[in-house]
Amino acid sequence: MIKIWTDGAEAGFLERRREQLREHGTTFVYMPQAPPERAVSVTMPVRLQSWDAATGLAPIFEMNLPEGMLRERLRLAFAKATGNFGDYDLLTVVGRSQLGRLRYSGIEDSLDDGVPFQSVDEILAGRGGSDLFRYLIDRFAPVSGISGVQPKVLVRDETAFGETTPGAKPRLSQSYRGATHIAKLWEANEFPQLAANEYFCLRAAQRCGLDVPPFRLAEDGLALVIDRFDLRSDGSYRGFEDFCVLNARSTAEKYRGSYETAIMKRFQQFANSPYVFADMEKLFTLIALNCAIRNGDAHLKNFSILYDDVLGEARLAPVYDLVTTTAYLTQDRMALTMDGGTEWPAAKKLRAFGETRMTGSPARIRQILERISNALTETAVELDAYRRAKPEFAAIGARMIEAWETGRRDSLGSP
Ligand SMILES: Nc1ncnc2c1ncn2[C@@H]1O[C@H](COP(=O)(O)OP(=O)(O)OP(=O)(O)O)[C@@H](O)[C@H]1O
Ligand SMILES: [Mg+2]
Repeated sequence: MIKIWTDGAEAGFLERRREQLREHGTTFVYMPQAPPERAVSVTMPVRLQSWDAATGLAPIFEMNLPEGMLRERLRLAFAKATGNFGDYDLLTVVGRSQLGRLRYSGIEDSLDDGVPFQSVDEILAGRGGSDLFRYLIDRFAPVSGISGVQPKVLVRDETAFGETTPGAKPRLSQSYRGATHIAKLWEANEFPQLAANEYFCLRAAQRCGLDVPPFRLAEDGLALVIDRFDLRSDGSYRGFEDFCVLNARSTAEKYRGSYETAIMKRFQQFANSPYVFADMEKLFTLIALNCAIRNGDAHLKNFSILYDDVLGEARLAPVYDLVTTTAYLTQDRMALTMDGGTEWPAAKKLRAFGETRMTGSPARIRQILERISNALTETAVELDAYRRAKPEFAAIGARMIEAWETGRRDSLGSP
């Protein structure tokens, strides 16, 4: 059995369900005295009756489980002891340190989400090369409750938190031990220069007026380090749920759904906030930007909500995981559907999507698309300078520029 904590307090218990020696999903029950604000998700209010998942884990518990290489590493390290190693087992390993406000422990254990210190400057200086990559994965994988296919770890460097926004640096509380940053790495033989690709896509997002957490590219281009946007200055964490959870889908279903319903409509349904219209504009901007930069990976887990109170208002989370995927997969298409299809939308379709789903005036929609177009033009200049300085980025950089030009012309309708 696993004990589940929300906001540092005990909320309930999770257990595997077995019938005739075969596993049949999991059962979660709240502690009888749990108050409503201790709910584990906006989709799972506190109640006496249990919350059962027919197979695997409920989406909120599955949300931060590592995928890809990190998952495989943990399986190899821990399966020996336990025989087989499924989602529930993975949760017992990475659940004590993960994104958002949920934590997991043994039923008798108290909370310990401490993460070893790792200098962010050392990662950014880029002197370790592939040795540093291996070291980070080996040391931090077991405390990295974070989803995604690309290799990445959660690290703690409270001295470097908020550094890129001068004057706004939050002072983290002294007692603070949890992770502050995400270090995203990449595998050279699969997606070369992925960190630099994402870096320039995030730069473009900033220029579109979207909220982007502080992010920095390592000198050698091997890592992208991003501040956690769910961390408060007192060292506690905000509530954070992705759109797999809001749509009651498992991680395996992250490419299922439409931008109309699974993203725009769903956000409206859960926002519960006076800022819903401003956030819908941002959401539309983000979806249009994804089309323009040819990001074919804008799936359900790459959009999230953020909140302080699970019963209160939820805001659109800052932007993350933007990549020009057609730089690697030339035939890549959208991750979710728009108007029934996954082909990149023409400007007319994107405008119609904005008018009906964001309920914006044609003039406002045009303004947003124009802003994205200008953001790409300006960022392309920066990207070009980096491409000249770093020959190893030249080929991917050229493909990115080409993709952005196609995106601007076809999806934004820019000359
Ligand atoms: N700055 C941040 N603060 C807090 N959580 C974040 C931040 N950036 C990303 N996340 C969370 O971490 C998860 C993994 O990050 P990200 O999507 O960047 O990884 P990825 O491996 O590129 O994902 P994918 O499998 O979609 O390619 C996200 O789904 C989101 O839940
Ligand atoms: Mg992602």
